Amino acid sequence: MCGIVAYVGHREASPIIIKGLKRLEYRGYDSAGIALMNGDLSVYKKKGKVADLEAYLASQDTHGNIGMGHTRWATHGEPNDVNAHPHYSTSRNIAIIHNGIIENYASLKKLLIEKGHTFQSDTDSEVFINLIEDIRANNNCTLPEAVRLAMHEVVGAYAIVVLAKDSPNQLIAARKGSPLVVGVGEGEYFLASDATPIIEYTNEVVYLNDYELAIINNGELDIRTKEDVKQTPYVQRLEMELESIEKGGYEHFMLKEIFEQPRSILDSMRGRMIAESNHLMMSGIREFENKFVNANRIIIVACGTSWHAGLVAEYLIEDLARIPVEVEYASEFRYRNPILNEKDIVIAISQSGETADTLAAIELAKSKGATIFGICNVVGSSIARATDAGAYTHAGPEIGVASTKAFTAQVTVLTLIAMIIGSKRGTLETTKLHELMVELETIPSKVEEALQLNDQIIKIAEQYKDVANCIYLGRGYNFPVALEGALKLKEISYIHAEGYPAAEMKHGPIALIDEQMPVVVIATKDSSYEKVVSNVQEVKARKGKVIAIVTEGDTTIPAMADHVIEIPETSEHLMPLLSVIPLQLLSYHIAVMRGCNVDQPRNLAKSVTVE
Ligand code: F6R
Repeated sequence: MCGIVAYVGHREASPIIIKGLKRLEYRGYDSAGIALMNGDLSVYKKKGKVADLEAYLASQDTHGNIGMGHTRWATHGEPNDVNAHPHYSTSRNIAIIHNGIIENYASLKKLLIEKGHTFQSDTDSEVFINLIEDIRANNNCTLPEAVRLAMHEVVGAYAIVVLAKDSPNQLIAARKGSPLVVGVGEGEYFLASDATPIIEYTNEVVYLNDYELAIINNGELDIRTKEDVKQTPYVQRLEMELESIEKGGYEHFMLKEIFEQPRSILDSMRGRMIAESNHLMMSGIREFENKFVNANRIIIVACGTSWHAGLVAEYLIEDLARIPVEVEYASEFRYRNPILNEKDIVIAISQSGETADTLAAIELAKSKGATIFGICNVVGSSIARATDAGAYTHAGPEIGVASTKAFTAQVTVLTLIAMIIGSKRGTLETTKLHELMVELETIPSKVEEALQLNDQIIKIAEQYKDVANCIYLGRGYNFPVALEGALKLKEISYIHAEGYPAAEMKHGPIALIDEQMPVVVIATKDSSYEKVVSNVQEVKARKGKVIAIVTEGDTTIPAMADHVIEIPETSEHLMPLLSVIPLQLLSYHIAVMRGCNVDQPRNLAKSVTVE
């Protein structure tokens, strides 16, 4: 949520910052701004997309080798030019960009107003920069020192960058709870919310930890804690390719990411499984093998699509490894008083690795002695670093706000985990394990086949693009897929959609069904197939329009449904990896036909770093 980019070095800062903001635009896109040191400390900002800011900058003097930029997802104050970042302090001598939420901003603001500070915006970020200015004046200290002292007074989450008129070669950054990466180039430094704006220039990065401060002054990087203890920067080498963060000929990132799934699923199992030699290994699990084998309970915490992947894992782990599983919304779990102990394992799932609620759930579980296992996509992210052990999904950067390839990669990794624990516990017998491994290896090519349905799905999308509501039904392993299909449709097309376990329909939602209501039913050949056939009949009896996802060769459901989408056959344990594909494509095409911005749907942001 909110994207931050800053640069200091020998190049023009403005083009680097604007390009970086475009790469980060998936984090927030209601307004954008930039501050540059060009003799003065100049701030330019605009409501709207980064492209609107860029157009505005064309008529401004944007020269300068040091600067910072921000793309905003509004929390405090509506999206407009004034609330856009950067924000000046009262004297206009220093400026800030901020990602996060300052929880005690109201009391700080009151205090600062009493001391004579003035405010232009409704943001908590303007309070932060005035606090820094106030501390600097009262303590007669340097700017880095004032930032450090301010970190003791603000409560909440932040990643900030500060620029000052009287320090034309200095960038100061700090973080607590919101991500910040320092890119280390040849005589130049970059700061950003994630590595995507940096990768084009350098692959050497330092991830700032919570309560750390980075001072980049005259070509030197100095990292300190908020207690002023000097830290040795740990420089990591990133393996990300530039192509992976570009559209590569696709109209949207979402479409590219849907089509990348044969490869991303393969990448998520690479090195972890070879069916032929019965090789099944995950280093994160090996480290905690005894804990997993003897776990009392597994609790999965996640949000949104990642929570849906967690639901699939509940079916997988309970069936294959016979350990009770509970799947919790991280946002609820963190504020309950959950019963947890040392024999519980908490699996936290997060694409971004930055979701504030999931991070807080982890901290709570840790404090109660549980072992925490993380499943993240973004390497080096906060959740990946907060867990005891974990596995990366290796799906590659996911830029489209609606999660697609991250979901299938999460499900793949969770399948491997269920198989590993099941085989170690002896609940999954060797022949069955081998069969599943062989079948899992075929999934990338079966996903490829499912993607061939694109043209057929475009035709279905044309017929339903103007509906107001849509219901998704599934049972067993396909129930979480129904939830995921409904979420995909509503978040990018703004059509109201609900997912239900098919049998629950009778307990309420059936009242909604009439000849206008499209009902997407996932009715693949599995243990609940016969039951789903009955559910389809119930919908048809009320004249609902059935779009059925079926297994190739099925003849029963095609005789009843209005539209049939045939996907390849596979084990029911692996079916979510295939059945979700047509649903992703359907929501994508409907959203495009409705003229929606599929990569940046309204009101959403890719990484939800505020609660
Ligand atoms: C939906 C979507 C969100 C995320 C959720 C959790 O398409 O992307 O529902 O799944 O915000 O995000 P992560 O996985 O980054 O923790």
